[in-house]
Amino acid sequence: ESGAEIPNTKFSFDGPFGTFDRGELQRGFQVYKEVCAACHSMHLLSYRNLRDIGLSEAEVTAIAASYQIPDGPNDNGEMFERPGRPSDRFRRPFANDAAARAANNGALPPDLSVIVKARQGGADYIKALLTGYEDPPEGVTLMEGMYYNKYFAGHQIAMAPPLTGDGQVQWGDGTAATVDRMAHDLTAFLAWASEPESETRRAMGVRIILFLVVLGGLTYAVKRKIWARVH
Ligand code: HEM
Repeated sequence: ESGAEIPNTKFSFDGPFGTFDRGELQRGFQVYKEVCAACHSMHLLSYRNLRDIGLSEAEVTAIAASYQIPDGPNDNGEMFERPGRPSDRFRRPFANDAAARAANNGALPPDLSVIVKARQGGADYIKALLTGYEDPPEGVTLMEGMYYNKYFAGHQIAMAPPLTGDGQVQWGDGTAATVDRMAHDLTAFLAWASEPESETRRAMGVRIILFLVVLGGLTYAVKRKIWARVH
């Protein structure tokens, strides 16, 4: 059984002229970091990629250094951990899938690097999923360790509602962290992560169209001039 019809959310990055909102992306990253990263990796991202969402070099370096990154072997053949560097990939919450499943009742929290592209419904689906938990309808019994979510295919999901209440994170810019705002900004961050180059690509598309319009106009003007005296 598929999930309920996914409501359309208005995002700043919708449509051919859409752009990401740096404030949203930064707030969304903070939600990922403080809530989702406990279970979900984003292994395609490096800390230095956070420069793209408007964080400074110093902020990126500090965030990277706040993680202990597995490394090695060293000269003695030992594995070790060291503070992260901007060039490191985001630290994974679990050493491997087996460990991830063991911590999650057998379910595997998927990597979120490209989840917005991977799921049908994209950003609209992710936003809906995060806010789509409810009590199961009459007559539906949940399996052990499962939660009811309107938008999840089959409705029974092994992820407990991750966004539990207003004020779960404290944003530095003073934006009130309502569940809806957290879900929205987080989804924007995940959409950016799935397709960080989309903005530049769209900007290039707009420039190409402008160029073609100007070139077309010019070609027409030249044609008129050249043929002006031919009767
Ligand atoms: C599944 C997002 C927090 C555990 C998922 C899925 C998404 C997601 C998009 C895939 C749903 C699908 O297959 O369509 C998030 C976000 C979080 C978050 C954005 C932060 C706000 C967490 C946390 C945990 C967790 C903190 C662990 C305590 C899981 C598990 C699944 C899952 C086990 C697999 C569910 C299943 O297949 O039934 N999550 N998650 N998630 N998540 Fe999360």
